[in-house]
Amino acid sequence: METFTIEGGKPLSGTLRIQGAKNAALPILAAAVMAEGQFHIYDVPHLKDIEVMLQILTALGAKATHTDGCVWLDTTSISIGHVPDDLMGQMRSSIFLMGPLLARLGEVTISRPGGCLIGERRIDLHLSGLTAFGAKMEEADGYISFRTKQLKGTNIFLSFPSVGATENIMMAAALAKGTTRICNAAREPEISDLANFLNAMGAKIRGAGTDTIEITGVQRLRPVSYRVIPDRIVAGTHILAVGAAQGHIELTNTIPEHLTALIEVARSCGVEIKTYHDIMEVKSTSRPRAIDRIITSPFPGFPTDLQAQLMTFLALARGTSVIKETVFEARFRHVNELARMGASIYVDLGSAFIRGVSRFNSATVEASDLRAGAALVIAGIAAEGTTVVEQIHHIDRGYDRLERQFEQLGATITRTIQ
Ligand code: EPZ
Repeated sequence: METFTIEGGKPLSGTLRIQGAKNAALPILAAAVMAEGQFHIYDVPHLKDIEVMLQILTALGAKATHTDGCVWLDTTSISIGHVPDDLMGQMRSSIFLMGPLLARLGEVTISRPGGCLIGERRIDLHLSGLTAFGAKMEEADGYISFRTKQLKGTNIFLSFPSVGATENIMMAAALAKGTTRICNAAREPEISDLANFLNAMGAKIRGAGTDTIEITGVQRLRPVSYRVIPDRIVAGTHILAVGAAQGHIELTNTIPEHLTALIEVARSCGVEIKTYHDIMEVKSTSRPRAIDRIITSPFPGFPTDLQAQLMTFLALARGTSVIKETVFEARFRHVNELARMGASIYVDLGSAFIRGVSRFNSATVEASDLRAGAALVIAGIAAEGTTVVEQIHHIDRGYDRLERQFEQLGATITRTIQ
């Protein structure tokens, strides 16, 4: 088992370039299936989830390398539409290979992805979306398959602006016959990045980033070179770390307008944030002020993927704050571990009531999922003494060597294998 050992209690300082966005790179790698040839995709972070995606693409017949953030992909020989069960089980996000494989091969089979630690993770919107194109769906023995001779463009209304469902439908529509309109689409920046990638491949997509996306199907797409946008959740994690532990850092390779909600909240709690072009300067010299209420919601609202990290930050604030989680039904698993470090948090009816304390005690804590793990690392950096975070494989799914990132910002954190 690998753990992080953190000697906390020191303010952060230094400069860090933010990694490419996991949640943009994953659908972009899936979309590459839709054209034959060689791709170069830059600023792809070295993460477990990316590794699994590349293993899946290789199992489907592609060739792939990933060196220094650049993914080289040759999708010419993709001929298999069945995502291997063991790989499907390792990463839910493989669900958004369905649209691309169905569009490329006319058939796709996946094992129904399980829920995960933050909630049920339903896929009904993916399935009804793909069925709307006229594809025939079958489900048996835990497998879901779709078949079609030709996807036909259509209008689709999403009852919830699901990120993954919007991506799956947008990809399938790119090669469908006719026009597709997605209403109540997700507006996350990663959707726009995927649309930009598909348009570079020759797709005709308009409106990505708004709640209505129109896609005019084309006959063929072509391979391209592309650079992935910066990871707004990683940037937000570091901003909240400075707010919790104090200090003065500079983040480069950021897109501040992807973090408006987080910047607003951090500033209202007393964190100084200056932005110019792709640089964010973040400074905090005292404990944050509490904030009455934060509700997570789809973009441009406060992102659920920063909720755990925000909780660590507010658990050290002067005063009481309330966080309501509305996107996932079980995303408070970090609360008990933070309580073991001295946080005072009460959860009821989907809300966390956080009474700020002046300091955390160091402890040995366990990461339960990706962002909960990041929240515990922030807590360890803020706490005096030695904190050990266990089960850090969860963290490696979304952060490219998080210990090195925080070391560059002056923290004392080492990865140990026990
Ligand atoms: C994406 O997951 C992200 N993952 C998640 O990031 C992120 O938390 C989430 O969007 C919300 O922003 C990737 O992009 C790889 P959703 P996704 O479909 O697509 C319900 C991280 O930490 N829903 O928007 O799975 C679902 O149950 C990860 O990087 C349905 O009901 O999110 C959930 O409650 C965690 N039916 C809500 O919508 C469906 O068909 C949000 O799900 C699909 C989703």
